[in-house]
Formats: sequence, C-alpha cells, structure tokens
Amino acid sequence: MCGIFGYVGARKDAGMVVIEGLKNLEYRGYDSWGVASSVAGKLVVSKDTGKISGVDAKSFSDESTIAIAHTRWATHGGVTPKNAHPHLSEDGTIAVVHNGIVENYRELKEWLSERGHTFMSETDTEVIPHLIEEEMKSGSDFAAAVRRACLKFEGRFAILALHTPTHTLVAARTGSPLIVGVSKKSDGNAEQGYFIASDIPAFLKHTRIVQYLDDGEMLVTDGESILFSDLHTGEERPKREIEITWTVEQAEKGDFEHYMMKEIMDQKESVVRAVNQDEAQIMTLAQSIRDAQGTFLVACGTAGKACMAAEYFFSVIARHHVNVAAASEFKLYHHFLTEKSLLVVVSQSGETADVLEAMRVAKAKRAKVLAIVNVEGSTIAREADYTLRINAGPERAVASTKALTGQLAVLLLIAHALAGKLQEGKTLLLEAGAMINDMLNPRYIERLRKLADRIKEDEDLYIIGKSWNYPMALESAIKIQEVSYVHAEGFAGGELKHGPIALIEEGTPCIALIGKDEVMSDILSNTMELKARGATIIGVCPDRYDVFDEWIKVPDAGTAQAIVNIIPIQVLAYFLAVHRGKNPDMPRNLAKSVTVK
Ligand code: AGP
Repeated sequence: MCGIFGYVGARKDAGMVVIEGLKNLEYRGYDSWGVASSVAGKLVVSKDTGKISGVDAKSFSDESTIAIAHTRWATHGGVTPKNAHPHLSEDGTIAVVHNGIVENYRELKEWLSERGHTFMSETDTEVIPHLIEEEMKSGSDFAAAVRRACLKFEGRFAILALHTPTHTLVAARTGSPLIVGVSKKSDGNAEQGYFIASDIPAFLKHTRIVQYLDDGEMLVTDGESILFSDLHTGEERPKREIEITWTVEQAEKGDFEHYMMKEIMDQKESVVRAVNQDEAQIMTLAQSIRDAQGTFLVACGTAGKACMAAEYFFSVIARHHVNVAAASEFKLYHHFLTEKSLLVVVSQSGETADVLEAMRVAKAKRAKVLAIVNVEGSTIAREADYTLRINAGPERAVASTKALTGQLAVLLLIAHALAGKLQEGKTLLLEAGAMINDMLNPRYIERLRKLADRIKEDEDLYIIGKSWNYPMALESAIKIQEVSYVHAEGFAGGELKHGPIALIEEGTPCIALIGKDEVMSDILSNTMELKARGATIIGVCPDRYDVFDEWIKVPDAGTAQAIVNIIPIQVLAYFLAVHRGKNPDMPRNLAKSVTVK
C-alpha cells in the first residue's frame, strides 16, 4: 500500500534522496505522491496526483539534510493533491506521512477543530500532525508528543514525522512495516545518516545495513544517532544491525521493460534457489506437521493458491491431511485451534495484514506458526516460531510470479520430506528448475506473445484444471485479471457441468491445464465438454490432443507439473496486458504489500 521514505543525515540533498528512493517503492501501488524537506529551517512541500516516475528527482536537490516522502494509496478522501501526504501541523513546523488508517479520526478532528485547528484535506492522516502539535502545547517534547498522539489513534498504522525546529524524525508503527537503513561513517560509508522506509529497495542503493522497527515501537533520530523505544512504556529497545543479502541489481529490472517479465525470467534460477534449504530443518518441520493435531495452510491471493496446491501435494505424495484457508477467513476457524495445532502461513512480502491477523488468532490459542516467506526480516518472518525463505530475491511487480513458484517448490519439498522422500523431492524440483530454464527461451516467449495478440480482444477467458492444476487455474485467473483486466475465471474441470458451462459460447477461449497424471483423462473429458459447446481450447499439456485448437507444450514434470504449467500463463497474462495497452507493473486498484485488512 502507501510507501513511506525519509532521510536525515549528513547529505545535503535529502529531497532528491527521498524522491529517488520513493521511485523504488512504486510497485507498492499508489495514486499520488508528496515530499517535504526542511530548507533553511522551513518546510518545503510538493505533492501531486499521478506517477512519480516522470518527476525529476534532481529538481529536489535542495540544501536539505532532512526530508520525508510518500506515495499514497487513497482510502479516506479522493485522489487530489490536497489529500496527498505529507500533511502539516497548523504552525507548519511538523510534517507527517502515514500508512494505514486512523479509525477514530472523526472524533479527533472534531476535538482539534474545537481547539482552533483547521484542516486542508479530507484525509484521516491530517489529524496526526495537528494532534502532535496539540500535545507539544501541553509541554511534551516532539518525540513524547508523537508517542502521546499515537496512543490516541485506533487502527493499524506506520507514521513518519518530521519536526523542523529540532531537526528530528520520529517514526512509529502498530501495523505497517518500517525499516531503517543505517549509513555510519565509522563503517566506512561516505555519509552518516538514517533512512526510514516501508521497504528495503527505497534505500538499497545507499546501504545494506538495516534495523527493524517492530509493532508497538517508535524511533527518534537526528541523523547522528537513533533511539528505539516501546511506544507504550517508553522503555529503550536496543536493535541489532542486520546485513541484507539482496543486491541493487537483483532489485532492478535491467534491460527488461517491466519487472513482471524480469521476474518471470528470474524463474530460470529462482526455483532452484527455493530448493536450497537446510535439510535438517525441513525434516524437523515435516515432523512438526506429522505431530501437529491439525495443520492449517493459510495465505492470501496467489500465495493462497500455492497453499491449495499444497493440499494436493500432501495428499498425493505424503498421504497427510492438511486444512487450507484464506487468511481473511481464518478468524472463524479459531474453534478448531489448540496448542497442538500448527499454522503454516505463506507470504511473499511477509507483511500481509490478513496473514498477520491469522497468526495472532493462532498465537492466542498457543498454536505454533511456521512462515514460508520471501522477504527476510519481514514482520511475518519475525513473528513466526519457524521460518523458511523461498530465496526468490526481491519481487517488485504487483503480479506475483517467481514467489509463487518458489512457494510451490518449498511446499512440495516439505510434502516429500513428510513422505520420507526428501532427496527424491529435491531431484524432482531441480529437474523442474532445469525445465523452466529450457522453457523460457525466445521462441517460446514469442509464441505466447502471438497467442496473446490473437485473444487480446476477448473479454472473457476461462481456465480449467484438476488436482493441483485446479488451484493453478484459479491462479491463472488472478494473473490475467490483475494485469490485463480481462474477465478471467478458473474452475475445477469437473465443476463445469454444475453451472459454469452455461457461460460458454462459440469461440469463447478456454485454457485447460493438464499433466500426465492420474486425473488426465478426466480433465481431457472436461475439455471435450467445453469444445462441444463451441469453446476455443488452448491446451497447456506435455502432449498434443485433437481437442486442442492451440497447444502450449510444457514438459512432463510429474508431481511438479503445477510449477511448470503456470509459467506459460504468466507470460500470456503479461502479453495480454501489454497488447491491451496496460502497464503490467502498475495494476489499477492493487498494491504489492496489502497491509490493511
Ligand atoms: C499476486 O499476483 C497478487 N498480487 C496477490 O494476490 C498476492 O499474492 C497477495 O496479496 C498475497 O501477498 P503476500 O504473498 O505478500 O502475502
């Protein structure tokens, strides 16, 4: 959702630093942007609607050593320059950027209005600088005033506040992530300073040393030093400095036009990296699944489809029952939980609010939590009892591609470990990785580009699958919907005759995801049912069948078929977006990290 980035330190181009960094948070999804820097003791604010990519960062290289910036994803108030952050206090000395929602902002606004505060926007955020100012009037210093104000807010949030007279940044969080990039002269860095951001790519160019602000904590920095404390008690919270392994190159799109295509291509290597796990740890976790009295796989969106596929992996490979739930629905499962339950959460970002909520539901019942994440040090990774990383490297396109195949690989590996076949699983996945490497060649990509061109005017597209290819049909629909805005729906092939087949008309494009497995003849029959009603069939299958109008050849990957079958659909979705004139990296209404419930 919203992106926050601030800097205080020795550099004299703080405005430019934060604008440049903000461009690296564009993937989070936003509709307006803004920046405030302190120049000669006065706040200079610029904000606008639309994209920040075209904004010349150099025009912000003012004589400033402190600045905050923000990309806004509108919740309260329309997309207007006035509603864009930062928002200022009445006296114009405090600027605030905010991610999340101040749920009780109406009462606070009324209370502040009675005390003479005037508001320029329709946002909930604007009450924050005014309330901080009001707290300062009653004698608190800036940091204490931020603390006191935060304790009055209801809802989950992250804020970054700048106070010009004391040249200080204060950040606090009760939900959305905030990470500090540390640049210390003593460590050989050119400049002393602190970067505070919603995500690491904002400052990766400047430093790989990070400190994490946890929920219920705040920090104060003047650029020389930083102090972390408990938001409620004020007690100091010392922090470790952690070195991030991501490189700037990994987080860039290089020669690719879009991150989505770059990340699809990354799968030539990322699936193999996902398999690179500590075997002893995988065996221990497999044992925990065996011992648990009820294992629940919980996630959202694409990660949720990986969990659904894993239900089949555990059934077919390990003969072990697991439950799958959407994280946003999991609260209602709490009656099933005991301290012997195991929650397995899957999340690329490690920051998804619904997943964090599910973890809290499980923890309240003292159930254990295993997290499968991509972003190291993310909130989900830190709050879980055990963590496995999928090692996909930074995924910046809103449409999740390499994270999905990494999640599928790790879940498949665990299923094999549970069946006592870890080495067999490893070999299978390494072979699948090599197959993906072969598939993603220029000729294959070109075929899919042409296919997308042929079907780009169709407004409806249906995808069917069975077994693990059923969740992949659902995932295919998500991918196509979110980047191309084509109406796509996935179904279990056997469900067609119970309703969806009524949607099929002459020429309706339908994709069938097929593997050479025990359900192949069933799904081929379902494909024939579609064909008999006039559908144009695109078969994604290791072998060609007469029923296909178009055949997209995929390798025979055995129990890893879900991983290879989804690859051509990702490419197809990408080209459908491009051919329809959409930017696949910036889908409307969506954000990369969904940090609101
Ligand atoms: C994927 O293409 C989607 N953008 C979305 O469904 C995503 O998978 C979901 O929001 C979960 O995110 P997470 O993996 O970061 O928790």
